[in-house]
Amino acid sequence: MKIIAVTNHKGGSAKTTTTVNLAAALAEFGHRVLVIDLDPQGSATQWLGLPLGDRPVLDAYLVRGDVTAVITATTAPGVDLVPASYYLVAADRRQETAIALGIIRALERLPAMWDYVLIDCPPSHSPLALAPLGVAPWVLVPVEARVLALSGIASLVGTMDSVRERLNPNLTLAGVIASRVNRTRHAREVVERLRERFGTLVFDAVVRETISMAEAPSFQLPITRYAPDGPGAEDFRAVARELLDRELRSDEWRVALPDGDDSPRAMLPSKRAQGAPARR
Ligand SMILES: Nc1ncnc2c1ncn2[C@@H]1O[C@H](COP(=O)(O)OP(=O)(O)O)[C@@H](O)[C@H]1O
Ligand SMILES: [Mg+2]
Repeated sequence: MKIIAVTNHKGGSAKTTTTVNLAAALAEFGHRVLVIDLDPQGSATQWLGLPLGDRPVLDAYLVRGDVTAVITATTAPGVDLVPASYYLVAADRRQETAIALGIIRALERLPAMWDYVLIDCPPSHSPLALAPLGVAPWVLVPVEARVLALSGIASLVGTMDSVRERLNPNLTLAGVIASRVNRTRHAREVVERLRERFGTLVFDAVVRETISMAEAPSFQLPITRYAPDGPGAEDFRAVARELLDRELRSDEWRVALPDGDDSPRAMLPSKRAQGAPARR
């Protein structure tokens, strides 16, 4: 059983889109997948056709440290879900820490019933977002192909370093996935910049921006069911295939993060790519 945290501090970086649709694609290939929705907003839960788990889900983490009782089937065949709970929004710092510890305990106790566990992490640096990094061996980082999204990676790299030092020495960046890639030169340059910085960690497969991907949540279906023959489903099948492939070539799968300048400035592509107005 491989536990993978899908994370990025930035909201709107396609974490939920990646979690739901990568899970569905992996299941299509015959793998058993569990999605854990840790974002109190519950977007992954709703996308997969289920209501938020409310109090019982909070209690599963906080009181029992065991989520098996709240796991349900979803609209994606082969994908099970631990739903989100709005109650995961902690009343105060102390409760936040208690919830985070409960999450860690629950993840450690998960029965090995699935091939993949994908965790949809909330944005931000809160204990809720950090807790899964304490347990999951692998991290997948979706990045929106926009220049402002690049600066968020710098802080993620820093966070991973400190989690590795203090909590989880095995934490490994399994890959960076360029998402919402449209036909603009800007998007192309951002993807190039990502490849320069992260090398082979960046998936060859990119996820294109499509209308059907934006529509699919309203129909509560993963893209592989909502538009099974469209580009979105095709892209996530390619991402899933590459994940499986990388895992087999474990040297690459476990590749260390290359050294480099992660300051936001260094992560930005050229001025031209940022659409700076031409000098008169
Ligand atoms: N490939 C895509 N094509 C079109 N829209 C996308 C795509 N990926 C993400 N989006 C849209 O971008 C927004 C943010 O995506 P989401 O997965 O919710 O990000 P996060 O979970 O990181 O906040 C959503 O409105 C989603 O519909
Ligand atoms: Mg989300």
